[in-house]
Amino acid sequence: MGEGSGFGKVILFGEHFVVHGIPGIVSAIDSTNEAIVKRTGTETVVRDERKTAKGYSQEKQKQQLESIDRMLKAMGVDPKTTFEIQIGGTLPGFSGLGASAASSVAIARAIAQELGMKMSDERTNDVAYEGEKAYAGTPSGIDNTAATFGGLLWFKKNMTGGPNLIERLRISEPIDIIIGSTGIVANTKAMVEGVANRKRGNPEKYGLLFDQAGELAILAKKALLRFELGEVGRLMNENHRLLQEIGVSHDALDDLVKIARKNGAYGAKLTGGGGGGCMMALTPGRDLQKKVAEAIEKKGYEVLRTRIGVEKT
Ligand code: PMV
Repeated sequence: MGEGSGFGKVILFGEHFVVHGIPGIVSAIDSTNEAIVKRTGTETVVRDERKTAKGYSQEKQKQQLESIDRMLKAMGVDPKTTFEIQIGGTLPGFSGLGASAASSVAIARAIAQELGMKMSDERTNDVAYEGEKAYAGTPSGIDNTAATFGGLLWFKKNMTGGPNLIERLRISEPIDIIIGSTGIVANTKAMVEGVANRKRGNPEKYGLLFDQAGELAILAKKALLRFELGEVGRLMNENHRLLQEIGVSHDALDDLVKIARKNGAYGAKLTGGGGGGCMMALTPGRDLQKKVAEAIEKKGYEVLRTRIGVEKT
C-alpha cells in the first residue's frame, strides 16, 4: 500500500495571467488531499471520498482518469499496471482551491510509494504538472507547485519550456483568510481557453490588462513582505477588477466579494479559475474572520476558514 498527500492552495494574485507568463502569488492552505493506493489485478478504480460541491466528482471523473493515465506515463509505469485509488482528506472539492492538483500530487506520491520508487519533490511536481493538463489544458503549473511544496510562493511560468521561477516568500506571521464557495462547479480548462481566445481577439485591451496584472503582482509581493495588509487587501480588490475585465468572474463571486468587503475584509477577490468556484477574503484576526465568515454563511454559501503563509503548512 502507498500513501501520499498534497496541499490545497489559494491564488492570492495573478490567476489566469500566470498561464501567459505573468508572475503570480500562491499560498498553500492547511487543508490537504490524501491518497491511498494499492495494486490490483483488474482495472484502475478511483474512490473519491472528498466532500465536494454538488456535481464536482461527476464533472471531473473523466478528467481524473485521464490525469492518472498521464501521470503513470510520466512516471514510466507499465501501462498495464492497475490500481485501486482512494482519495480523501480535508480539502473539499470546491473549484478554485487546487483540489485537482492536490489530489494529483497525493496520487503520484502514493503510486511511487506503492511501487517502491524514490521521487523527489521536484520530480513529483513535474509528474503532477502532466496530470494537471487533463484538468486545465495548458496549465501554468502554479497549482501543482503549491500542492507539492506548500508555503507562500512567488511563481512565474517559463514560457520557453525551461524551469519555472519559484521563490519562497517568508512573511512575519500567517494571515487569517476565508474562502467562500459559490457551490458552482467550474471547468478550469474552458475558462483558460476562453481567456486565451478573447486575448487573441482583442490583443490591445488584453495586453494592457496583462501589464497591469504584472505590476500588481510586483506591488503585492512587496506589500506582503513588508506585512502591509491594508495595501495587500487593496491590491486584491484591484486584481478582482482585472479578473472581471478578462471575463472570468461570475455574479455569485461578485456577490461574495461584496459581502466580504461590506463586513470589513481588507480585500476580496475570486481565486482560481473563476466562472463559479471560490472567492477569498483577507480577514486578519480571528474576530474579523468570524464576522466575515458568518455574514457569508448567512447568505447560504459555504465557507472555509484558513490561513495563508504557514511555513510548510
Ligand atoms: O481553478 P483552479 O484551482 O484549477 O486554478 C486555476 C488557476 C489558473 O490560473 C486559472 C490556471 C493555471 O493553470 O494557472
